[in-house]
Amino acid sequence: MHFDILTLFPSMFQGPLEESILKRAQESGRLSITLHNIRDYASDKHHITDDAPYGGGGGMVMKPEPIFAAVEAIVGQDTSVPRILVSPQGRLFSQAIASELAHFPSLLLICGRYEGVDERVRQHLVTDEISIGDYVLTGGELAAMVVLDAVTRLLPGVLGDPGAVLHDSHAQGLLEGPHYTRPADFRGWRVPEVLLSGDHAAIARWRREQALRRTRERRPDLLDGLQLSLQDRDFLAQLEMESSGMDDERGD
Ligand code: ADE
Repeated sequence: MHFDILTLFPSMFQGPLEESILKRAQESGRLSITLHNIRDYASDKHHITDDAPYGGGGGMVMKPEPIFAAVEAIVGQDTSVPRILVSPQGRLFSQAIASELAHFPSLLLICGRYEGVDERVRQHLVTDEISIGDYVLTGGELAAMVVLDAVTRLLPGVLGDPGAVLHDSHAQGLLEGPHYTRPADFRGWRVPEVLLSGDHAAIARWRREQALRRTRERRPDLLDGLQLSLQDRDFLAQLEMESSGMDDERGD
């Protein structure tokens, strides 16, 4: 998969792209990235990329011309490449959106800075707008890295264990349950016996229940609208009974 990333700060990407899985994905040819400095596409002598907002007010706005020029030079008239503006006003990024984007051979990400980008970029150039959360960063670069990372690890062959992504938190709409490794006894805290039992069906059921339990405790909103088996529902009902029993004991 290829990423074209438009930014005013290409060097911000250097560290994350040169380590670990993102580095190996590039070395194996599964991932390629071209960083484009928006400043290079500003046609004036000083390569100015921002200007004061019409109507007054604080902050600066990114000018449309360099962004249009960059996108047109990179993808031309090719409408098959999603042109994604990362901004706090976009649709909220999720594992489902990462999977959706992982199907494209190529993506173009535009990183905004300052108070925002000229609205005509939104209206006439981009095909999608993504936010990574309800908070405001100093610019879109970190958000673009988040999108790049989450999409790349879904590409075939990028992770060592191809089954790993199936069990990720959020992959099936649930948070992941706990994981343990050696030693079986650490300072008297023992690994749950079922994990040492070698009974694969019991382990799978235990993991499912832990995922359900953790999701119910931490993100009950995720359970709404999820397709759950009868066994899952029974387990959740049992948890419900346990916690209402605890309320009774406390006199609630
Ligand atoms: N740029 C600034 N804040 C952002 C956010 N939350 N998501 C995406 N891009 C951003």
